[in-house]
Amino acid sequence: MLSQAFKALIFLPAALRVACAQTTACNNSPSLCSRAYNNITHLGAHDSPFVRDAADDYDIAGNQYYNSTVQLSAGVRLLSAQIQMTNSTSSGQLHVCHTSCDLFDAGKLSDWLSEVNVWLVANPDEVVTVLLVNGADATAQDLAAEYEAAGISDIVYTPTSTAASSASTTSSYAASATSTSSSTSEWPTLQSMISNGTRMVNFVASLSNNTGASYLLDEFSYIFENSYENTAPTDFSCAANRPSSVANDTELALNQGLMPLMNHFLDEQVGFGIQAPNDTYIATTNGPSGGVGNLGASADECTSSYGKAPTFILVDFFNVGPAIQTVDRLNGVSDVIGRTNISTSVMSATSGAPATGIQSGMLCLTLLAVMVLVVYW
Ligand SMILES: *[C@@H]1O[C@H](CO)[C@@H](O)[C@H](O)[C@H]1NC(C)=O
Ligand SMILES: *[C@@H]1O[C@H](CO)[C@@H](O)[C@H](O)[C@H]1NC(C)=O
Ligand SMILES: *[C@@H]1O[C@H](CO)[C@@H](O)[C@H](O)[C@H]1NC(C)=O
Ligand SMILES: *[C@@H]1O[C@H](CO)[C@@H](O)[C@H](O)[C@H]1NC(C)=O
Ligand SMILES: *[C@@H]1O[C@H](CO)[C@@H](O)[C@H](O)[C@H]1NC(C)=O
Ligand SMILES: *[C@@H]1O[C@H](CO)[C@@H](O)[C@H](O)[C@H]1NC(C)=O
Ligand SMILES: *[C@@H]1O[C@H](CO)[C@@H](O)[C@H](O)[C@H]1NC(C)=O
Ligand SMILES: *[C@@H]1O[C@H](CO)[C@@H](O)[C@H](O)[C@H]1NC(C)=O
Repeated sequence: MLSQAFKALIFLPAALRVACAQTTACNNSPSLCSRAYNNITHLGAHDSPFVRDAADDYDIAGNQYYNSTVQLSAGVRLLSAQIQMTNSTSSGQLHVCHTSCDLFDAGKLSDWLSEVNVWLVANPDEVVTVLLVNGADATAQDLAAEYEAAGISDIVYTPTSTAASSASTTSSYAASATSTSSSTSEWPTLQSMISNGTRMVNFVASLSNNTGASYLLDEFSYIFENSYENTAPTDFSCAANRPSSVANDTELALNQGLMPLMNHFLDEQVGFGIQAPNDTYIATTNGPSGGVGNLGASADECTSSYGKAPTFILVDFFNVGPAIQTVDRLNGVSDVIGRTNISTSVMSATSGAPATGIQSGMLCLTLLAVMVLVVYW
């Protein structure tokens, strides 16, 4: 009797640890906690703040059907956004805008960052990455002011100099030390980032220096991307495309310790040389299997090409597919915890709202025609 109670006491801490380990999930899964940040595949919402829904009459410049908060709750862990300067007669402000703030203005950068921060604070076991496309040529100081206005401070992750210097001592890395002097191929586990409370990773494309805001990381010092300007499902390629220093040399990119970001979205021609996200083929583009250019097959091709799964996969209309299914498969995750289940439907003015959306689309097209022809991704 006594010895049984004693045995129970001895095994209690271990049992508790097991029980706790089972209920603690990092990025929606207990099995990801011990994995390094660069050894998991993060699902990315391309142009995260540019939402195409009833509120904007299904604006064709929108890349997602759900806002950034919903994206995060549904499993997205990388949010990309373009930043542009508003053109006001007084002083311009940094906004999240698609190509131009006259075309699609999703509001102040600080407000969008604040939305992300609110979600992060409410979800303490999640690591989230933000990728800002710096169309405004903002300096680190300008961007830091937006982060401060958003109330973001100690939640940001800054790679340690130790990791950076240990990475630079590896021979393959040293060959290109000048172009990627601040990068590191050594990343902590999700659990250690969560335990430290530094769970927001911030990349900027591009940033000449990050003086005064060392958490703002120049994207192409850490990441390489395949091509992104694809209009046909046969266009998808795994080959390194950016930065230019590794274009068409995937092996060099990998040897430098750069993390692969797989762009996987299609644009369509909408006239006047302008492109918009292709939503008519999206069920296949984001599909786990099926037709030409499906996400599952492309992910497998890139995994084989890189010798490991892509670190980031960036898609339009992330809910369709659902794209997260392919990411879960790459991560070997089947024990999902705390993720919101949302519709995988394609949405449009005809499916979700009255015909006013078409008028708005035409107005948008006209605006587009008289404006910038260069489409940032
Ligand atoms: C993580 O590491 C495992 C084992 O080496 C590998 O199979 C997998 O592809 C890696 N995933 C990523 C995203 O690096
Ligand atoms: C995001 O969308 C959801 C669902 O439509 C809505 O409830 C929520 O208020 C939105 N959040 C923000 C920050 O716009
Ligand atoms: C900003 O607005 C002014 C006045 O409307 C215009 O002349 C100028 O070309 C605009 N600049 C840009 C970059 O759009
Ligand atoms: C956690 O914080 C400690 C102390 O500041 C630091 O040495 C360590 O590198 C941090 N780890 C991570 C994963 O950020
Ligand atoms: C960093 O960038 C700022 C803004 O462009 C510039 O003023 C500063 O001289 C740069 N600092 C270094 C060390 O290059
Ligand atoms: C990369 O390869 C593609 C296809 O062969 C070619 O069109 C492109 O010009 C190459 N780019 C560079 C920078 O070499
Ligand atoms: C979207 O892509 C598919 C596949 O290439 C194509 O058949 C379709 O016409 C495109 N949609 C539009 C509106 O261009
Ligand atoms: C998510 O919703 C879909 C459609 O409503 C349903 O088929 C699926 O079983 C749900 N998945 C989970 C994990 O609840």
